[in-house]
Amino acid sequence: MKVLFVCLGNICRSPAAEGVFLHLIQEKGLSNSFEVDSAGTSSVHSGERADPRMREHALKRGIELPSRARQFKREDFKHFDSIVVMDDSNYRNVVGLAENNTDIEKVIKMASFCPLSGESEVPDPYYGGAAGFEKVLDMVTEGSENLLTSWGF
Ligand code: 4NP
Repeated sequence: MKVLFVCLGNICRSPAAEGVFLHLIQEKGLSNSFEVDSAGTSSVHSGERADPRMREHALKRGIELPSRARQFKREDFKHFDSIVVMDDSNYRNVVGLAENNTDIEKVIKMASFCPLSGESEVPDPYYGGAAGFEKVLDMVTEGSENLLTSWGF
């Protein structure tokens, strides 16, 4: 199964989701069943590593974030089975590039898999403090577990 996590810049939320998901499937011995990547709807940070604050908070949980930012592209609809977006703006931007209903049906919201958070979106932590980065990690951890369950793992 091929999974792509998407946010705006691809330096905070989607690299965190990618790293947490990779960590989880490794723990569960499922690494061979997945291809995992992340992307941003914007190209502003393309080529950059994840934000140092996001990396530091993830590392405190024993999770490395290896990704380099890249922009989401239309061909991603063809390659990936599931496209997991972080907020409503990401959803609109990604769906805006879809060519058909098959593409659109691949796009799901991470927050839909985070009932314990009480949130309808994974909030952008970029302009905030430490609590925002912790919240992202809590949400993508809950969401990754529930995504795996929803896919029958
Ligand atoms: P992300 O966070 O979408 O979770 O990667 C952001 C990163 C950068 C900016 C906004 C959000 N920015 O405005 O540069």
